[in-house]
Amino acid sequence: MQAKNPKDSRTILTDLVLPSETNPLNNLFGGELLARMDRAASIAARRHSRRIVVTASVNNVAFNKAIPLGSVVTVEAAVSRAFKSSMEIFIDVWVEDRESGKRSRANEAIYTFVAVDETGTPVNVPELTPETELETERYEAALRRKQLSLVLAGKMKPKDATELKALFE
Ligand SMILES: CC(C)(COP(=O)(O)OP(=O)(O)OC[C@H]1O[C@@H](n2cnc3c(N)ncnc32)[C@H](O)[C@@H]1OP(=O)(O)O)[C@@H](O)C(=O)NCCC(=O)NCCS
Repeated sequence: MQAKNPKDSRTILTDLVLPSETNPLNNLFGGELLARMDRAASIAARRHSRRIVVTASVNNVAFNKAIPLGSVVTVEAAVSRAFKSSMEIFIDVWVEDRESGKRSRANEAIYTFVAVDETGTPVNVPELTPETELETERYEAALRRKQLSLVLAGKMKPKDATELKALFE
């Protein structure tokens, strides 16, 4: 399988925040943002693997800034590293200022997707080659995040998490 670059999977979803999607403070409801991020990440994982993909875990979500009703929100997702059957997807969320049109970063999240066949069995995906400095930074940290996610899910013993151990030694 030929290696791909993050730009091959980059997925950009832009949409408004409508009244039915807000909390009592008139800001975007967290679950609605999670759903938008999951959709964008799913498309990115599919573009990278060209297979059926499922969400395996949500590794990190930071709701740094509230997003008010009426905002124009852009969710940008791309594969940050591919392993055997799993892919880490990095998601950046931007909000557009109504008057200036300037975008500011509101939130970010990291999801893991797994490519599967029609029976739900994991299948291999192409490797990912980062190109920019930011892509390389995200690529290099991804193994550590994968190990942390597996340890938290009880799928890896802490003593086997070599990248995590290296952080503390
Ligand atoms: C995701 C799923 C396919 C993994 O199946 P599994 O039996 O654990 O398969 P494996 O152990 O072979 O793991 C497959 C890959 O997922 C990775 N993985 C599994 N759980 C993970 C987790 N919590 N965090 C990070 N990676 C994970 C494994 O490390 C492995 O990666 P690799 O092949 O790149 O090395 C399976 O758990 C599943 O189908 N879950 C339901 C998915 C779903 O319905 N999502 C929507 C939620 S409603």
